[in-house]
Amino acid sequence: MTNAAVFSDIADRYDRLNRILSLGRDQAWRRMVVDRLPPGRLLDLGAGTGAANPIFEDRSVVALDPAPEMLVRNDAPLRVVAAGEALPFRNETFDAVFSAYVFRNLDSVPDTVAEIARVLRPGGRAGIVDLGRPARPLLARLHRAGTAVVLPLAGATVGARDEYTYLHRSLDKHPEPAELFAGTVLRLVDTWRMGPMGFVWGAVLEPR
Ligand SMILES: C[S@@+](CC[C@H](N)C(=O)[O-])C[C@H]1O[C@@H](n2cnc3c(N)ncnc32)[C@H](O)[C@@H]1O
Repeated sequence: MTNAAVFSDIADRYDRLNRILSLGRDQAWRRMVVDRLPPGRLLDLGAGTGAANPIFEDRSVVALDPAPEMLVRNDAPLRVVAAGEALPFRNETFDAVFSAYVFRNLDSVPDTVAEIARVLRPGGRAGIVDLGRPARPLLARLHRAGTAVVLPLAGATVGARDEYTYLHRSLDKHPEPAELFAGTVLRLVDTWRMGPMGFVWGAVLEPR
């Protein structure tokens, strides 16, 4: 199953299940990142159904996602079907780039980071939030054992067992943010942990 296919298949159930699996905290975790971004023009990269729209306040938002089935449910005025690895915008278009729960699904983190750096104006900021594993190895092992059972079961209740097995596997895809962004064209200026056992990470990056 490809990344894009996962979200095309679960678009109608995505928001409800996301809320349940995050124990209602998904928006609070997004907000921790949005609060650290400047005002002005904002690109929501991997915007999905537009869950973050209510917390963007009076920013001018462009919602981008490769899955039209997700984007059709998004009420942002400007919506673009495209992937993070090839952004269809001119250099220095945005004051901020926001991306929530997307990085595990990218085909290429370096290509997407390079594109984010290109479309950010000088002095702009990128804010990213995603799920991973707790930083401590023992907690990470416990967490892995838990999601191996809980996520396929939760998926089965909404007829999406394969998709939520994919989610379980994707949690191991990336290392810590400091390692993930080391040597990229964006400089990590802040990173922090959230959620039970700290399995959610936030990061703020700026052009070098
Ligand atoms: C877990 S959803 C998150 C949606 C939204 N950001 C939110 O906070 O609810 C992941 C989204 O990333 C999108 N996605 C997958 N591959 C992508 C890529 N290469 N570039 C940009 N978005 C991608 C999916 O289509 C999906 O809408």
